[in-house]
Amino acid sequence: MPEDIILSTSGLTKEFAGFTAVSGVDLKVKRGSIHALIGPNGAGKTTCFNLLTKFLPPTRGTIVYNGRDITGEKPAEIARLGLVRSFQISAVFPQLSVLTNVRIALQRKRGDSFDFWRSERSLKNLDAEARRLVEAVGLSPFLELTAGELSYGRKRALEIATTLALEPEMLLLDEPMAGMGREDIERIEALIRKVSAERTILMVEHNLSVVASLCDRITVLARGQVLAEGDYATVSKDPRVVEAYIGSGGGHGHH
Ligand SMILES: Nc1ncnc2c1ncn2[C@@H]1O[C@H](COP(=O)(O)OP(=O)(O)OP(=O)(O)O)[C@@H](O)[C@H]1O
Ligand SMILES: [Mg+2]
Repeated sequence: MPEDIILSTSGLTKEFAGFTAVSGVDLKVKRGSIHALIGPNGAGKTTCFNLLTKFLPPTRGTIVYNGRDITGEKPAEIARLGLVRSFQISAVFPQLSVLTNVRIALQRKRGDSFDFWRSERSLKNLDAEARRLVEAVGLSPFLELTAGELSYGRKRALEIATTLALEPEMLLLDEPMAGMGREDIERIEALIRKVSAERTILMVEHNLSVVASLCDRITVLARGQVLAEGDYATVSKDPRVVEAYIGSGGGHGHH
Protein backbone atom coordinates (compact mmCIF):
# COMPACT_ATOMS: atom_id res chain seq x y z
CA MET A 1 0.00 0.00 0.00
CA PRO A 2 1.39 3.44 -0.85
CA GLU A 3 2.05 5.78 2.05
CA ASP A 4 -0.60 8.38 2.75
CA ILE A 5 1.30 11.64 2.26
CA ILE A 6 -0.44 14.82 3.41
CA LEU A 7 2.30 17.26 2.45
CA SER A 8 5.16 16.98 0.02
CA THR A 9 7.65 19.35 -1.52
CA SER A 10 9.70 18.81 -4.59
CA GLY A 11 12.91 20.69 -5.29
CA LEU A 12 11.88 23.42 -2.87
CA THR A 13 14.42 26.24 -3.10
CA LYS A 14 14.72 29.74 -1.65
CA GLU A 15 17.46 32.14 -2.59
CA PHE A 16 18.06 35.46 -0.84
CA ALA A 17 20.15 37.76 -3.02
CA GLY A 18 22.34 34.93 -4.29
CA PHE A 19 22.45 33.05 -0.96
CA THR A 20 20.60 29.73 -1.04
CA ALA A 21 18.82 29.27 2.29
CA VAL A 22 16.75 26.26 1.17
CA SER A 23 18.15 24.12 -1.59
CA GLY A 24 16.22 21.48 -3.52
CA VAL A 25 14.33 20.08 -0.54
CA ASP A 26 12.13 17.03 -1.17
CA LEU A 27 10.01 16.49 1.89
CA LYS A 28 7.26 13.97 2.46
CA VAL A 29 5.11 14.16 5.56
CA LYS A 30 2.93 11.18 6.34
CA ARG A 31 -0.66 11.85 7.36
CA GLY A 32 -1.12 11.49 11.11
CA SER A 33 2.58 11.55 11.92
CA ILE A 34 4.64 13.85 14.13
CA HIS A 35 7.47 14.82 11.82
CA ALA A 36 10.49 16.81 13.01
CA LEU A 37 12.62 19.16 11.02
CA ILE A 38 15.96 19.52 12.76
CA GLY A 39 19.40 20.84 11.92
CA PRO A 40 22.03 23.33 13.06
CA ASN A 41 21.40 27.07 13.31
CA GLY A 42 20.87 28.64 9.93
CA ALA A 43 20.09 25.29 8.26
CA GLY A 44 16.96 26.74 6.67
CA LYS A 45 14.26 25.26 8.92
CA THR A 46 12.31 28.45 9.56
CA THR A 47 12.68 29.47 5.92
CA CYS A 48 11.15 26.11 4.98
CA PHE A 49 8.17 26.85 7.25
CA ASN A 50 7.86 30.29 5.68
CA LEU A 51 7.73 28.66 2.26
CA LEU A 52 5.17 26.05 3.33
CA THR A 53 2.79 28.67 4.74
CA LYS A 54 3.51 31.01 1.84
CA PHE A 55 4.94 33.78 4.00
CA LEU A 56 7.72 33.65 1.42
CA PRO A 57 7.47 32.73 -2.25
CA PRO A 58 9.83 29.93 -3.29
CA THR A 59 12.48 30.61 -5.91
CA ARG A 60 11.87 27.14 -7.34
CA GLY A 61 10.05 23.96 -6.52
CA THR A 62 6.52 22.89 -5.70
CA ILE A 63 4.42 22.23 -2.62
CA VAL A 64 1.57 19.73 -2.69
CA TYR A 65 -0.94 19.55 0.18
CA ASN A 66 -3.66 16.90 0.17
CA GLY A 67 -3.02 16.21 -3.49
CA ARG A 68 -3.36 19.86 -4.45
CA ASP A 69 -0.54 22.07 -5.73
CA ILE A 70 -0.52 25.00 -3.30
CA THR A 71 2.70 26.59 -4.55
CA GLY A 72 0.81 29.60 -5.90
CA GLU A 73 -1.71 30.02 -3.07
CA LYS A 74 -1.92 32.95 -0.65
CA PRO A 75 -1.26 32.47 3.11
CA ALA A 76 -4.93 32.91 4.05
CA GLU A 77 -5.94 30.21 1.57
CA ILE A 78 -3.33 27.82 2.98
CA ALA A 79 -4.77 28.29 6.47
CA ARG A 80 -8.29 27.81 5.13
CA LEU A 81 -7.20 24.50 3.63
CA GLY A 82 -6.17 23.37 7.12
CA LEU A 83 -2.42 23.93 7.09
CA VAL A 84 -1.80 26.25 10.03
CA ARG A 85 1.32 27.49 11.71
CA SER A 86 1.21 28.20 15.41
CA PHE A 87 2.92 30.99 17.35
CA GLN A 88 2.57 33.39 14.49
CA ILE A 89 -0.96 33.30 13.16
CA SER A 90 -2.32 32.94 16.68
CA ALA A 91 -1.79 36.22 18.46
CA VAL A 92 -2.58 36.13 22.15
CA PHE A 93 -3.82 39.31 23.83
CA PRO A 94 -2.10 39.58 27.23
CA GLN A 95 -4.74 41.85 28.83
CA LEU A 96 -7.65 39.53 27.97
CA SER A 97 -8.68 36.42 29.86
CA VAL A 98 -7.79 32.90 28.75
CA LEU A 99 -11.43 32.22 27.85
CA THR A 100 -11.81 35.48 25.90
CA ASN A 101 -8.66 34.79 23.91
CA VAL A 102 -10.00 31.43 22.79
CA ARG A 103 -13.44 32.90 22.03
CA ILE A 104 -11.86 35.55 19.82
CA ALA A 105 -9.94 32.86 17.94
CA LEU A 106 -13.17 30.93 17.40
CA GLN A 107 -14.91 34.10 16.23
CA ARG A 108 -12.16 34.73 13.73
CA LYS A 109 -12.62 31.28 12.31
CA ARG A 110 -16.33 31.96 11.72
CA GLY A 111 -15.88 35.60 10.88
CA ASP A 112 -17.33 35.22 7.44
CA SER A 113 -20.88 34.36 8.51
CA PHE A 114 -22.41 37.48 10.01
CA ASP A 115 -25.83 36.04 10.71
CA PHE A 116 -24.24 33.56 13.03
CA TRP A 117 -23.67 36.36 15.57
CA ARG A 118 -27.26 37.49 15.76
CA SER A 119 -28.51 34.55 17.74
CA GLU A 120 -28.03 34.21 21.45
CA ARG A 121 -27.88 30.45 21.05
CA SER A 122 -24.83 30.64 18.79
CA LEU A 123 -23.00 32.76 21.35
CA LYS A 124 -23.72 30.14 24.01
CA ASN A 125 -22.41 27.42 21.72
CA LEU A 126 -19.29 29.45 21.16
CA ASP A 127 -18.77 29.76 24.88
CA ALA A 128 -19.12 26.02 25.31
CA GLU A 129 -16.66 25.36 22.53
CA ALA A 130 -14.15 27.83 23.97
CA ARG A 131 -14.37 26.09 27.35
CA ARG A 132 -13.88 22.73 25.67
CA LEU A 133 -10.69 23.97 23.98
CA VAL A 134 -9.38 25.55 27.19
CA GLU A 135 -10.01 22.23 28.92
CA ALA A 136 -8.27 20.32 26.12
CA VAL A 137 -5.03 22.23 26.67
CA GLY A 138 -5.24 21.90 30.45
CA LEU A 139 -6.03 25.52 31.25
CA SER A 140 -9.45 25.13 32.88
CA PRO A 141 -8.19 26.24 36.32
CA PHE A 142 -6.98 29.50 34.73
CA LEU A 143 -10.05 30.47 32.70
CA GLU A 144 -10.41 33.92 34.21
CA LEU A 145 -6.73 34.81 34.45
CA THR A 146 -5.43 37.19 31.83
CA ALA A 147 -3.03 35.67 29.30
CA GLY A 148 -0.35 38.01 30.65
CA GLU A 149 -0.59 36.39 34.08
CA LEU A 150 0.13 32.89 32.78
CA SER A 151 3.51 31.19 33.07
CA TYR A 152 5.51 30.88 29.87
CA GLY A 153 4.54 27.25 29.27
CA ARG A 154 0.86 27.93 29.89
CA LYS A 155 0.99 30.86 27.49
CA ARG A 156 2.21 28.41 24.86
CA ALA A 157 -0.65 26.09 25.73
CA LEU A 158 -3.04 29.01 25.21
CA GLU A 159 -1.43 29.75 21.84
CA ILE A 160 -2.01 26.12 20.90
CA ALA A 161 -5.66 26.42 21.96
CA THR A 162 -6.13 29.52 19.77
CA THR A 163 -4.50 27.66 16.89
CA LEU A 164 -6.73 24.61 17.42
CA ALA A 165 -9.72 26.97 17.23
CA LEU A 166 -8.92 27.26 13.52
CA GLU A 167 -9.42 23.48 13.22
CA PRO A 168 -6.12 22.73 11.50
CA GLU A 169 -5.67 19.40 9.80
CA MET A 170 -1.93 19.93 9.86
CA LEU A 171 -0.06 22.00 12.41
CA LEU A 172 3.37 23.57 11.96
CA LEU A 173 5.22 24.33 15.19
CA ASP A 174 8.49 26.27 15.11
CA GLU A 175 10.47 25.54 18.28
CA PRO A 176 7.47 25.05 20.60
CA MET A 177 9.77 24.40 23.58
CA ALA A 178 12.09 27.36 23.08
CA GLY A 179 12.96 29.12 26.32
CA MET A 180 11.12 26.65 28.56
CA GLY A 181 12.08 24.90 31.75
CA ARG A 182 11.77 21.16 32.21
CA GLU A 183 8.30 21.22 33.74
CA ASP A 184 6.82 23.31 30.93
CA ILE A 185 8.59 21.15 28.33
CA GLU A 186 6.96 18.04 29.75
CA ARG A 187 3.57 19.73 29.77
CA ILE A 188 3.81 20.97 26.18
CA GLU A 189 5.22 17.64 25.01
CA ALA A 190 2.19 15.86 26.45
CA LEU A 191 -0.09 18.44 24.86
CA ILE A 192 1.49 18.03 21.42
CA ARG A 193 1.14 14.26 21.72
CA LYS A 194 -2.51 14.69 22.65
CA VAL A 195 -3.40 17.09 19.83
CA SER A 196 -1.51 14.91 17.34
CA ALA A 197 -4.12 12.18 17.78
CA GLU A 198 -6.36 13.65 15.11
CA ARG A 199 -3.92 15.62 12.99
CA THR A 200 -0.50 15.81 11.40
CA ILE A 201 2.29 17.79 13.03
CA LEU A 202 5.48 19.12 11.50
CA MET A 203 7.75 20.70 14.07
CA VAL A 204 11.12 22.38 14.23
CA GLU A 205 12.74 21.59 17.55
CA HIS A 206 16.26 21.98 18.90
CA ASN A 207 15.62 19.90 22.01
CA LEU A 208 16.67 16.48 20.72
CA SER A 209 15.37 14.51 23.68
CA VAL A 210 11.93 15.93 22.91
CA VAL A 211 12.38 14.99 19.25
CA ALA A 212 13.48 11.49 20.22
CA SER A 213 10.46 10.81 22.39
CA LEU A 214 7.80 12.64 20.38
CA CYS A 215 8.56 12.35 16.68
CA ASP A 216 7.93 9.41 14.33
CA ARG A 217 10.09 10.70 11.55
CA ILE A 218 12.92 13.19 11.34
CA THR A 219 14.34 15.18 8.47
CA VAL A 220 17.75 16.71 9.09
CA LEU A 221 18.60 19.89 7.21
CA ALA A 222 22.05 21.38 6.89
CA ARG A 223 22.95 24.37 4.74
CA GLY A 224 19.53 24.27 3.17
CA GLN A 225 19.73 20.64 2.06
CA VAL A 226 18.28 17.40 3.38
CA LEU A 227 21.17 15.58 5.03
CA ALA A 228 19.38 12.57 6.43
CA GLU A 229 15.92 11.22 7.07
CA GLY A 230 14.44 8.45 9.19
CA ASP A 231 13.56 7.68 12.78
CA TYR A 232 15.61 9.10 15.64
CA ALA A 233 17.79 6.03 16.11
CA THR A 234 18.78 6.11 12.44
CA VAL A 235 19.49 9.80 11.98
CA SER A 236 21.25 10.28 15.32
CA LYS A 237 23.78 7.60 14.35
CA ASP A 238 24.36 9.04 10.90
CA PRO A 239 27.97 10.32 10.78
CA ARG A 240 26.98 13.22 8.49
CA VAL A 241 24.41 14.38 11.04
CA VAL A 242 26.89 14.14 13.92
CA GLU A 243 29.42 16.05 11.83
CA ALA A 244 26.94 18.78 10.89
CA TYR A 245 26.04 19.37 14.54
CA ILE A 246 29.64 19.37 15.73
CA GLY A 247 30.70 21.60 12.85
CA SER A 248 28.11 24.16 13.88
CA GLY A 249 29.11 24.17 17.54
CA GLY A 250 26.22 22.13 18.85
CA GLY A 251 23.37 23.48 16.82
CA HIS A 252 21.35 25.03 19.61
CA GLY A 253 21.33 27.25 22.62
CA HIS A 254 21.32 30.41 20.56
CA HIS A 255 18.10 31.90 21.81
N1 LIG B 1 14.84 37.23 4.77
C1 LIG B 1 16.11 36.79 4.67
N2 LIG B 1 17.02 37.44 3.94
C2 LIG B 1 18.28 36.97 3.83
N3 LIG B 1 18.74 35.84 4.42
C3 LIG B 1 17.86 35.15 5.18
C4 LIG B 1 16.51 35.58 5.34
N4 LIG B 1 15.88 34.68 6.14
C5 LIG B 1 16.79 33.75 6.45
N5 LIG B 1 17.99 34.02 5.88
C6 LIG B 1 19.19 33.23 5.97
O1 LIG B 1 18.88 31.91 5.56
C7 LIG B 1 19.57 30.95 6.37
C8 LIG B 1 18.56 30.02 6.99
O2 LIG B 1 17.84 30.72 7.99
P1 LIG B 1 16.68 30.04 8.83
O3 LIG B 1 16.15 31.08 9.74
O4 LIG B 1 15.75 29.37 7.92
O5 LIG B 1 17.49 28.96 9.66
P2 LIG B 1 16.99 28.01 10.84
O6 LIG B 1 17.34 26.63 10.45
O7 LIG B 1 15.59 28.30 11.19
O8 LIG B 1 17.96 28.46 12.01
P3 LIG B 1 17.69 28.56 13.61
O9 LIG B 1 17.90 27.17 14.14
O10 LIG B 1 18.77 29.48 14.08
O11 LIG B 1 16.32 29.09 13.84
C9 LIG B 1 20.38 31.74 7.39
O12 LIG B 1 21.70 31.85 6.90
C10 LIG B 1 19.70 33.08 7.40
O13 LIG B 1 20.61 34.10 7.73
MG1 LIG C 1 14.60 29.00 12.91
